[in-house]
Amino acid sequence: MFYPLLRKILFTQDAEKVHEYTLKGLSHIQRLPILPYFYSPIRELPKKPITCMGITFPNPIGLAAGLDKNGECIQAFAAMGFGSIEIGTVTPRAQEGNPKPRLFRVRPAEGIINRMGFNNHGIDNLIENVKISDFKGVLGINIGKNKDTPVENGKDDYLHCLKKAYVHASYITVNISSPNTPDLRTLQYGDALDDLLSALKLEQASLVNEHKKYVPIAVKIAPDLSLDEIHQIADSLVRHQIDGVIATNTTLDRSLIQGLEHSTEQGGLSGRPVQLSSTEVIRTLNKALSGKLPIIGVGGIDSLVSAREKLQAGASVLQLYSGFIYKGPKLVRELVKSI
Ligand SMILES: Cc1cc2nc3c(=O)[nH]c(=O)nc-3n(C[C@H](O)[C@H](O)[C@H](O)COP(=O)(O)O)c2cc1C
Repeated sequence: MFYPLLRKILFTQDAEKVHEYTLKGLSHIQRLPILPYFYSPIRELPKKPITCMGITFPNPIGLAAGLDKNGECIQAFAAMGFGSIEIGTVTPRAQEGNPKPRLFRVRPAEGIINRMGFNNHGIDNLIENVKISDFKGVLGINIGKNKDTPVENGKDDYLHCLKKAYVHASYITVNISSPNTPDLRTLQYGDALDDLLSALKLEQASLVNEHKKYVPIAVKIAPDLSLDEIHQIADSLVRHQIDGVIATNTTLDRSLIQGLEHSTEQGGLSGRPVQLSSTEVIRTLNKALSGKLPIIGVGGIDSLVSAREKLQAGASVLQLYSGFIYKGPKLVRELVKSI
């Protein structure tokens, strides 16, 4: 009842402004002792523990990366019932991202187009926020490279963030699939991927030694991949003993939103229009991986049916972004209860 009305008001305003105000509001609310009462229904949520990448997730419904890029509202999102929170994408240095406007609702299709370009306050700020949050749940830290780091040196940015984030994260996500950082997606292929993954695994081994703690690494991939490319990626992930794969990021494909308002805006499209393609990537990956590493499914989940489709295709854990924007926190509770 409450969210559809609130959404009607919010959707009359600029998408990024609403995003900023909402995060600001949540970051204040989470400091108040009333937080557990504000979202009281979460206390009635059933426990649905699931083990993935060696981590026990209290339930399989997680918050996807990009909503809380700086980790400012971790407790507030956890209080909505999410079983895991992924913050970031964070880069070594703070950066502005692309010029505004850069976030668009494609309302009739329940989609979102964004070309944010990893706007974030940098890894040091994110780590401070994580420490302040004192969050004890499952926390993913999603890492990327700065825009002005040439892609051939991108590895250094990922290693920098991995080292800084390692002890603070339940798992680390290596984002090589955002369409909004020039050439980033080239890291998904061939030697560039092998080179990056072997460097990350080497660093992970040294961090395990140093901290006596194993923090799994997941790689996040795009939905815009051919069957052959998915098989090659799966092969690299297995060879390098990567711990998990997150499928998928946003799509460049506009075929399902042709003619709709904002459909020609550049950037990555998410929400319902990416639902099927992301499920297909999960299905293909699942066959190619034959259970050697788990899949975290994300892309257009907005109902129990679409959530179950991802699980049936082979995902173990799910994440939401756009569906959460369109349906509100109720979607999280509905999915946790019924899945
Ligand atoms: C505004 C916006 C910003 C995003 N930023 C990031 C990001 O920084 N890093 C990332 O890995 N994914 C990012 N994503 C992608 C989501 O995490 C998710 O993979 C994608 O939107 C598909 O899920 P959905 O259809 O439920 O939104 C972003 C998505 C949106 C809509």
